Amino acid sequence: MIIGDRIRLRAIEKQDLPYYVKWLNDPEVRQGLSMIMPISLVDEEEWFASLQQKSPFERPLAIEIQPEPTIDKWVFVGNCGLFSIDWTNRVAEAGIHIGEKSCWSQGFGTETMQLILKHGFESLNLNRIWLRVFETNQRAIRAYEKAGFIQEGKFRQAQYLEGNYVDVIIMSVLRSEWKDNQ
Ligand SMILES: CC(C)(COP(=O)(O)OP(=O)(O)OC[C@H]1O[C@@H](n2cnc3c(N)ncnc32)[C@H](O)[C@@H]1OP(=O)(O)O)[C@@H](O)C(=O)NCCC(=O)NCCS
Repeated sequence: MIIGDRIRLRAIEKQDLPYYVKWLNDPEVRQGLSMIMPISLVDEEEWFASLQQKSPFERPLAIEIQPEPTIDKWVFVGNCGLFSIDWTNRVAEAGIHIGEKSCWSQGFGTETMQLILKHGFESLNLNRIWLRVFETNQRAIRAYEKAGFIQEGKFRQAQYLEGNYVDVIIMSVLRSEWKDNQ
């Protein structure tokens, strides 16, 4: 378990899969993700089985929040993680989705990314953590900026989204920048 202030990150369990099916079929959630076709529980079961073949460091993590600080009850709201880890250059890509839309814009995305950065730099000894985000996903860009990510470039018109080509923004944090802000 990776513990933050209002959130914690844990391994994904099989009973989480129906939540993914619900969230990843929601057009509003999918708008920020590279997903086009509807997904089924069988798709998710296959995805879950494939996780066991991955390095433990690259397995996605479940995001749980604690709505009431005084009550020890945790609610599963989304998914995050580091992947494509390059151990020679100490670089990894980060990803996140919060499927429970009622939890958006309350700072949980920012806190999750801050926790991922801490985990990546302090526990995995990474030097650079980066991500890609559609230019249209202003909520995500704002959350990433609050967590410390800097926009460093873009892939122009790299994503076809609802009838338009949109730029894919590249954002990153270096370990030195992150340490300066601790
Ligand atoms: C992107 C996501 C992880 C952000 O998480 P979150 O918990 O909603 O983000 P936070 O509350 O930490 O921060 C969002 C910020 O954007 C702001 N915001 C919300 N809608 C906005 C908009 N349309 N334009 C600009 N800013 C916006 C919020 O007010 C908040 O900023 P503030 O704290 O300064 O007021 C979450 O919304 C999500 O999972 N979305 C669906 C999947 C997705 O897009 N994943 C990202 C793929 S790159």
